[in-house]
Amino acid sequence: MAAYEYETHDYDVVVVGAGGAGLRATLGMAEQGLRTACVTKVFPTRSHTVAAQGGIAASLSNMGPDNWQWHMYDTIKGSDWLGDMDAMEYLVRHAPKAVYELEHYGVPFSRTEEGKIYQRPFGGHTTEFGEGPAVQRTCAAADRTGHAILHTLYGQSLKNNAEFYIEYFAIDLIMSEDGQCQGVVCWKLDDGTMHVFNAKTVVLATGGYGRAFFSATSAHTCTGDGGGMVARAGLALQDMEFVQFHPTGIYGSGCLITEGARGEGGYLSNSEGERFMERYAPQYKDLAPRDYVSRSMTMEIREGRGVGPDGDHLHLNLAHLPAEALHERLPGISESARVFAGVDVTKEPIPVLPTVHYNMGGIPTNYWGEVLNPTKDDSNAVVPGLMAVGEAGCASVHGANRLGSNSLIDLVVFGRAAAIRAGKVVDPEAPNPVLNQSSIDAAFDRFDGLRNANGGVATAELRLEMQKTMQADAAVFRTTKSLADGTEKMDGIAAKLDDLKVTDRSLIWNSDLMETLELTNLMPNALATIAGAAARTESRGAHAHEDHSERDDENWRVHTISHITGKQVDLSYRPVITDPLTTENEGGINLERVAPKARTF
Ligand code: FUM
Repeated sequence: MAAYEYETHDYDVVVVGAGGAGLRATLGMAEQGLRTACVTKVFPTRSHTVAAQGGIAASLSNMGPDNWQWHMYDTIKGSDWLGDMDAMEYLVRHAPKAVYELEHYGVPFSRTEEGKIYQRPFGGHTTEFGEGPAVQRTCAAADRTGHAILHTLYGQSLKNNAEFYIEYFAIDLIMSEDGQCQGVVCWKLDDGTMHVFNAKTVVLATGGYGRAFFSATSAHTCTGDGGGMVARAGLALQDMEFVQFHPTGIYGSGCLITEGARGEGGYLSNSEGERFMERYAPQYKDLAPRDYVSRSMTMEIREGRGVGPDGDHLHLNLAHLPAEALHERLPGISESARVFAGVDVTKEPIPVLPTVHYNMGGIPTNYWGEVLNPTKDDSNAVVPGLMAVGEAGCASVHGANRLGSNSLIDLVVFGRAAAIRAGKVVDPEAPNPVLNQSSIDAAFDRFDGLRNANGGVATAELRLEMQKTMQADAAVFRTTKSLADGTEKMDGIAAKLDDLKVTDRSLIWNSDLMETLELTNLMPNALATIAGAAARTESRGAHAHEDHSERDDENWRVHTISHITGKQVDLSYRPVITDPLTTENEGGINLERVAPKARTF
């Protein structure tokens, strides 16, 4: 057994991760007087939410008529009927309140002439249950909305006495013998000390796992750490096959160009200068949802209408927009285009390509953020003491495809919901749990094994192999063959985790070891993604299967549940929740209106 000395910290709640969801949960917990710690591997305002550009969806009706029912319809249709109706209703009904709270906390939203929060159009957000024109629903702080939210929530959390443990890496969850989460074991990166956090509730807000792929808009820190810890605790991941490609990553670097660029009037064109989205989505054109636009772009390139010497990307045009509008509304992407593509957006188009952007799947939860442990008898059974929010979680509001700007609202609505729930279930007077020492020992043993790994494969080498395989075989379009090849290759790649070589044995700022721990988190996420995709013989949302091109509601309107042990992935399925929170008599949504139908735009 590896002997590491450690310091123990007792809290009511420990939140792991300090992005939008983690900070909103931390703030909500601290506001209620719960002793709250937020443990984060990066400085809070460097979390990946800082990169969120275009905005946060809420039916405020500041720019024209809107209501939560239209937002709900769009979210359901966007999800390709895989989202859970109760969670989707919770999201859209609480969205306006959650945005006004942000405003009151101090988020510097852009403003209309009348001083209201400015809202822009985004893909898939419409009026009249998908029959009217596009709606301006996405509340924006220029094109730096995530940045503004993150700084505000961090300041407010400090004001409410939340305690931050910054640059602490979470190694593993502490689980009791009877399946309760009791805390988390962490490594402090800057001084090499070890820490055990004892908590009545742990909230995983660790973000997505975009870095399982070669080209992603996600930060290098998006390594699915929560999913990795959950998988090692024997718990499930859900709907991992649904990976979103954002239509406009800058060609080459993968840097995000916000959908807000198309919301403000930008459009895509091919080598013939044609606005090709008019052919694929006659009603909403460039403002169709992301899965739709990414597939259309891939088809243009495949059919020989790509731009550039290799015909392998497309153009995003903004030069027809007034320079003042670009300066005021899209300053961040104007700079990104200049730095990463050498383009002056007032004069030239930006070279773009669909790029991995978001994981619809994650740790299954209910709409309070409580982690589910679906069993045959109870598909909604809860894991005591464990919550997951944000991209790490899967509530599931995005189903098979997320609408742009529904991510930031998911972060704040469900971060807030987790805090409300914790206020009800966590007793600040109760003693902290007596920790399961064997769970702590197992975490240190795993850590020590990796620290001293002396095999033949370097971490960076294996990571690259995984990323290239996922990029090639779990792509925008998938086939039976690509998925079978990918599964086989990933099996071999995962086996090499037992042969890793870590060259630095120290404990202080050992980035080799940290990246190795991250790789052990990325791997179960990647394995579940490709296994779930290979099994799902239909096309739905972001899962476009060329050998099964139709959606199959009879057999596949179900959530995929994966349990991962080593390189083995066991799949089972859980019903989609089709009952909303309120019925039509209570002012709820009309069920016939949201019944599955063909998804066209
Ligand atoms: O395009 C964007 O600004 C990204 C927003 C989102 O993913 O919600």
